Amino acid sequence: MRLGLKMVWDKESLKEVVRAKIGDRKFIVVSNREPYLHVFQGDEIRCVTPPSGVVTALDPVLRACGGIWVAHGSGDADKEVVDSNDRVQVPPEGPAYTLRRVWLTKEEEEAYYYGFSNEGLWPLCHIAFVRPIFNEADWTVYRKVNEKFAESVLREIGDGAGFVFVQDYHFCLLSKILKEKRPDITVAQFWHIPWPNREAFRVCPWGEEILRGLLGNDLLCFQIRYHCQNFLDTIERTIEAKIDYERFSVIREGKETLVRPFPISVDFEKINQIAQDPGCDEEIKKIKRILRLKNRLVGVGVDRIDYTKGIVERFGALDRFFERYPEYLGHFTFIQLGAISRIRIKSYKEWNDEIYHLMIDINEKYHTRDWQPIILQKSHFGPKDLISYYRMADVCIVSSLHDGMNLVAKEFVASRFDNNGVLILSRFTGSARELIDALLINPFATDNFADTIKQSLEMPAEEKAKRMEKMREVIKENNVYRWAGKIIGELKKLA
Ligand code: F6P
Repeated sequence: MRLGLKMVWDKESLKEVVRAKIGDRKFIVVSNREPYLHVFQGDEIRCVTPPSGVVTALDPVLRACGGIWVAHGSGDADKEVVDSNDRVQVPPEGPAYTLRRVWLTKEEEEAYYYGFSNEGLWPLCHIAFVRPIFNEADWTVYRKVNEKFAESVLREIGDGAGFVFVQDYHFCLLSKILKEKRPDITVAQFWHIPWPNREAFRVCPWGEEILRGLLGNDLLCFQIRYHCQNFLDTIERTIEAKIDYERFSVIREGKETLVRPFPISVDFEKINQIAQDPGCDEEIKKIKRILRLKNRLVGVGVDRIDYTKGIVERFGALDRFFERYPEYLGHFTFIQLGAISRIRIKSYKEWNDEIYHLMIDINEKYHTRDWQPIILQKSHFGPKDLISYYRMADVCIVSSLHDGMNLVAKEFVASRFDNNGVLILSRFTGSARELIDALLINPFATDNFADTIKQSLEMPAEEKAKRMEKMREVIKENNVYRWAGKIIGELKKLA
């Protein structure tokens, strides 16, 4: 589709690129998190989608161009629905691609996912002042799990040609293993989280092996250019390799890896359409009734409960806001939707408790007979519910301490076809580079954050509309089909 002189990517244009660049090769996506989980609910089996940026972005891509998605089968009913090759067709309402499940033992999940990936690499890459924990036993299992995934991927490719698109920090070693066994296949990897500066990365005891693993890729993508530069800088100081700053690539032992920024995005049109569905208006009325919001101003936050998301800082700013501007007591309610995440890790459990207690304290301090300042709903909401919350909000707050991209900010913008609503966005997210018409904040600067909440609630309608219109243009153009199309297009530059 073309808008003026600008091309707007959609499913069809992505399909064309896939046909031209991938052709007959098998298109295989690998991630830890699966896009659909099957879970028992009593005797019934339900299919649910997890709260995950990887899934939000890649499910529309696979729906558009088909392929095979290899992922950890983590639902308790996952084994019930697969065929003899551990495959199931998804999405359930209209199968468009194959989900190939990889089974992990409890011990493997504990060490590879909770351990090395999320207690080690996650805090290493996010500047949120949580110390990474590096445990040799976890690392050993992490390596084995990368090998296990490689076996499944190679089995899916068979003897044919393939293009493998690996996701994220769970698979630092996978691409190298794949290329060693099958040098003819093309392998790209997308690193969804920030890449730290070399000083921070230095503390990882297996840094060199990780870097060698990532250089197994033909194409290695990050969210923003700054993360690419951090990566090249880390390579330069850590292992022997030649960096070509002209081509933005690394050459090691005769093999080249292109390093590129590709900001990930959302399916703008789909969200825009759902937001305009009359069912959404009904849902908003229902939520307002149940939460007794009346005609109060409403703020919304949508996050996995993770210390990187700055929820404690957000509540702190809300406290300061009510303290400074008591005229809003009883007139503004903040709804925090929080999906429980990685709760078996100690720091996550502690953060969950802290958020809960903070909410109780703030509510105790300010509540009136029929109003409380913060409503915390700890559960996972489906896309349609979320869009109703986004549409209902006068302000959406994203206050991550550090975030590769943050798709909540983009979803909020995509759902505001009415050009209403204000986005308060942390400067420390990848999306702040594109959404410059949001009210940008430093989540650590509590007073300024509190004043920005006030500013958002008092912003004149014309200014809101102007800002929102501009942000919508940006996300409409830089949608997830463009993201995938550009990455696949980049493959032509490979030797
Ligand atoms: O940001 C990295 C990421 O993998 C995202 O895709 C996703 O939002 C989140 O982490 C999901 O975490 P998990 O799969 O551990 O629940």
